[in-house]
Amino acid sequence: MKLTTKLLAATAMVAASSASAVELEVTHWWTSGGEAAAVSEFAKAFNATEHTWVDGAIAGSGGTARPIIISRILGGDPMHATQLNHGRQAEELVEAGLMLDLTDVAEAEGWADVVNPSRLLDSCTLDGKVYCVPVNIHSPQWLWLSHAAYEKAGVDVPADWFEFVDSADALKEAGVVPLAMGQQSWQTNLAFGAIMVAVGGTDLYLDVLTNKNAEAAASPEMTKVFEAFAAARLLSEGSNVQDWNQATNLVITGQAGGQIHGDWAQGEFQVAEQVAGTDYTCLPGLGVNEIIATGGDAFYFPKSDDPEITAAQKELASLMISREVQVAFNLKKGSLPIRGDVDLSAANDCMKKGLAILAAGNVLPDGVNAFSADTQGQIDDLTVEFWNDTSITVEDAQARYVDIIEDAD
Ligand code: GAL
Repeated sequence: MKLTTKLLAATAMVAASSASAVELEVTHWWTSGGEAAAVSEFAKAFNATEHTWVDGAIAGSGGTARPIIISRILGGDPMHATQLNHGRQAEELVEAGLMLDLTDVAEAEGWADVVNPSRLLDSCTLDGKVYCVPVNIHSPQWLWLSHAAYEKAGVDVPADWFEFVDSADALKEAGVVPLAMGQQSWQTNLAFGAIMVAVGGTDLYLDVLTNKNAEAAASPEMTKVFEAFAAARLLSEGSNVQDWNQATNLVITGQAGGQIHGDWAQGEFQVAEQVAGTDYTCLPGLGVNEIIATGGDAFYFPKSDDPEITAAQKELASLMISREVQVAFNLKKGSLPIRGDVDLSAANDCMKKGLAILAAGNVLPDGVNAFSADTQGQIDDLTVEFWNDTSITVEDAQARYVDIIEDAD
């Protein structure tokens, strides 16, 4: 074969492979140490193909990032892939026909047989078509406790929420903030939901969040939840931080005794090289009602006119749900994988607690799935106002909550 022919053939091959190699801009709000370590596992796996992951991290919480993500898509300047939470957050985008249908990938790879619990795939599905790939299970209802803080206070590490509340005075006397809390409304709402599960119980949680039962919201059992939440707000004096991971850092450094937070906090303990059971204790369901919710994250892919982009988007979706990437990502993220057929021998004590609860089926639908963004926003605002303004009484707060649940959609 003449040299020129060989060169032409080689050029054609490079052109063909480079023609299918694309860059995908991926947006997410994972900017803490642990989150960045986790999302880098997705990027590493994608960059190992012929494609390139262009990281579009958005600083701040989901409440900051979601409006930016949604307005970019609605405004005709979409990214190629984006994180959102499980549930209804992309509902309008999917209904507007702006999101890529992944059904062919989902069916070819049997996602319906793989994803556990199956409702995580259900919340990606509209009219029988799949529009997102679930990537993890996060549960908000955990209590994280610092062993260093309790050694300093000279008291045993609590075994549940009630022992934690009883330990608060000893912590304060030792100069330790009992309860770390960041000053964003989704964080106070998260704590409210966790206390509802622990103090009010699963039935009440389901009746209010899933059935949107205003009578349950007005019940004496719910009054006890508001009373516990009112008492908890007095335990966070001195927790002058904004972001959730700054509050987690107060626990990691022993400046705070505990934090009610999701299991994504684990990523921060891992980056700080702290060991579950040795340096910190995790109590699912605040140690009172061992249960998890199936919150967490999924990736959606705005439609593109470029077939090579579409092909790469489907490759990324397939990678994110693959066994190997599911293990690598979730071990760093502190979340549970969305498939049960993976080897999690590297899981730490806390992840093992979560896996055992999941296997036992003690699973709640996550609050994120229950309400529209508007209703959820009203509840978030009520909880943060009540947390920060101790002049608001339990009666006032509960009455406002009942009104919100009555009109909830
Ligand atoms: C949640 C998300 C988690 C976690 C958290 C704090 O919405 O599901 O992955 O990162 O935000 O950023």
